[in-house]
Amino acid sequence: MKKIILTGDRPTGRLHIGHYVGSLRRRVELQNSGEFDEINILVADAQALTDNFDNPEKVRANIVNVALDYLAAGIDPSKSSIMIQSAIPQLTELTFYYMNLVTVARLQRNPTVKSELSMRAFGEGIPVGFFCYPISQAADITAFKATTVPAGEDQEPMLEQTREIVRSFNHTYHCDVLVEPEILLPQNKASMRLPGTDGKEKMSKSLGNCIYLSDEPSVISKKVKGMYTDPGHLNINDPGKCEGNPVFTYLDAFCRPEHFEQFLPEYRNLDELKDHYRRGGLGDVKVKKFLDAVLEDTLTPIREKRHDLEKNIDYIYEVLKAGTEKGKERAQQTLDEVKDAMKINYFDDKELILQQQKEFDKQRQEREALERRREASRRGNQKKTQEHA
Ligand code: TRP
Repeated sequence: MKKIILTGDRPTGRLHIGHYVGSLRRRVELQNSGEFDEINILVADAQALTDNFDNPEKVRANIVNVALDYLAAGIDPSKSSIMIQSAIPQLTELTFYYMNLVTVARLQRNPTVKSELSMRAFGEGIPVGFFCYPISQAADITAFKATTVPAGEDQEPMLEQTREIVRSFNHTYHCDVLVEPEILLPQNKASMRLPGTDGKEKMSKSLGNCIYLSDEPSVISKKVKGMYTDPGHLNINDPGKCEGNPVFTYLDAFCRPEHFEQFLPEYRNLDELKDHYRRGGLGDVKVKKFLDAVLEDTLTPIREKRHDLEKNIDYIYEVLKAGTEKGKERAQQTLDEVKDAMKINYFDDKELILQQQKEFDKQRQEREALERRREASRRGNQKKTQEHA
């Protein structure tokens, strides 16, 4: 079986370092591993509109930002297709058919939907479009027959929902058209869900606790300086906690052994640094300075590449257009198979026409035969009456 990747992001803002360690860094590695037959990356604007329908300008502006972040981080359009979701109408069509296979109760149980619903105050009620976005995500994934979805932990419920739809579809329509995908989670726990600079559980634009891939060095330094650490670590000599301390979580996600050689040669590795912090005697400022250097080392090449790419926005849209065209073809193939399986391929089914013709011919012949028998018996009756007269 082919190994196919599909993954994506909502274009509601620039990508931040949580996106980077949670998925983007891995996508680049997977892309360059040569292990995959196909890599598809979706700029999920239609999904972004499910909770931003009244703010299309925001979505529109961020398509190019997300594409720039992808390319700057190392996504290579000759190896990976980047596409725009709304420009692939086949995805919407698949969504509509999958809706038959999912219950309202099942969507209500989806943990990601649940937590998003509690986060967004939907005043008058939940828009149906938002409520159904997991189904649309299943369409994204299955349209490409993706085997592998590199994504963060928060996407696991979407994958589970997708696998259920796949099983239900293949079972209901006696086929094996759709493929069950697997999630590929980040390799370490820190990258699974990077906390915000304020120590809150999640880095999120609305919480204002993000470091963006495209932030300027001075902005990053300032954000790192202001980061939340262990509130019990008041004096340098106090013992400190590394767990739940976002400075150390970021180091877990970003730092490599060579960073110590380069920026902090007194320590051999992160374990030694953590031990010292736990014992006491290591100040937050020193650790933050190190983190700043590590982030700078990682993000400088990305930022520089972005600045270069920003000179030619025309090219970015060309990449998106080419990727979208390719995506459309793939999605159409799957949609054709889906419609075949669902028996809604009326115009392409020569067999259907022949069979229906045969059926109608048979009915006509039966009607005619009946008519002839009736006629014969009427004549017989007439004859009898005449004979009697
Ligand atoms: N739900 C994802 C997010 O919020 C974006 C997304 C849309 C996605 N379609 C996808 C992710 C398909 C993986 C696969 O970031």
